[in-house]
Amino acid sequence: MDLTTTYLGLEMKNPLVCGASPLGASLDTLRHLEDSGIAAIVLPSLFEEEILAAAKGVMAMEAAGAGFAEATSYLPDPEGYHIGPGQYLEHIERAKEALSIPVIASLNGSSPGGWTRYAEKMQAAGADAIELNTYFLSTDITESGADVENRTVDIVREVAGAVSIPVSVKLSPFFSSIPNLAKRLVEAGAGALVLFNRFYQPDIDIEDLEVVPNLRLSSVEELRLRLRWLAILSATIECDFSCTGGAHNATDVIKSVMAGANTVQMVSALLIHGADHVTRTLEAIEFWMTEHDYEGIGQMHGSMNLSKTPDPGAYTRANYMKMLDSWER
Ligand SMILES: Cc1cc2nc3c(=O)[nH]c(=O)nc-3n(C[C@H](O)[C@H](O)[C@H](O)COP(=O)(O)O)c2cc1C
Repeated sequence: MDLTTTYLGLEMKNPLVCGASPLGASLDTLRHLEDSGIAAIVLPSLFEEEILAAAKGVMAMEAAGAGFAEATSYLPDPEGYHIGPGQYLEHIERAKEALSIPVIASLNGSSPGGWTRYAEKMQAAGADAIELNTYFLSTDITESGADVENRTVDIVREVAGAVSIPVSVKLSPFFSSIPNLAKRLVEAGAGALVLFNRFYQPDIDIEDLEVVPNLRLSSVEELRLRLRWLAILSATIECDFSCTGGAHNATDVIKSVMAGANTVQMVSALLIHGADHVTRTLEAIEFWMTEHDYEGIGQMHGSMNLSKTPDPGAYTRANYMKMLDSWER
């Protein structure tokens, strides 16, 4: 059975990728994932905020005429698995040494600026590609949707212009015309679109009157939003696609590939079931493909996208009334 696929110009032994998360922070876990069959790793993000904080620390050090030894006292304490820019680059180097599968670094920020040049350092450290996450939530009434889109395109242009390795863009689903933005991002240098960021919704504690940030792992229902947009975009936009959000098992991976994904990222399912879940998922994909006379992943890639499906209306407004009418008590 041929499970191979290509993504961002990289040869992948199968479509399963470990998405950006704490899973990528430990070399032991990375080795375990590789042994279990994962085709590539996206490391946890290095955030714009971390890069800017570290730069501020170095500037303060220079202003004080301090030597290197004193520098660390100006740098912010890394929280959790966020290790700061210097150690992030070392982590890329170590991951590249430890693994033979592609290692994708993740850069996460929402405004154009000097931090985007960190992409160059990621490339120099050995990253095979960069996943750029532009997670942003607009709260400013003077900022238009066009402003947000233009800024996203500018960030992508800056990052893609700074490196020769491929760059993918992890997007949020909250844009009024995703196809138009997707086209502009590809023109700005994105080699792949990663659909979609999950927005983590804070809750309100009504007793303590606190806003409570809480991170919930995904559920399989979240996959449908991805399937729809993979199907629509892969039919018209010339780039690769990766699915992230709600892919938990072999069926989810097969659906995502049929909708148009070159790769399918998993995080929640791996956090719940452990790295061995990769092996079981790959075995189940192979089993299903054999049962259904598929010889390779290529045969199913995009086979259910907007241009190939016998019922394109199912992905668009044409299906809206039909679906509402189908409700039965
Ligand atoms: C604990 C945790 C940490 C994450 N950290 C990052 C991150 O650093 N950068 C990023 O782009 N996405 C991050 N994500 C989002 C995942 O990469 C992924 O897009 C999301 O979990 C949806 O995929 P899933 O349904 O397979 O979990 C994180 C997710 C979790 C659960």
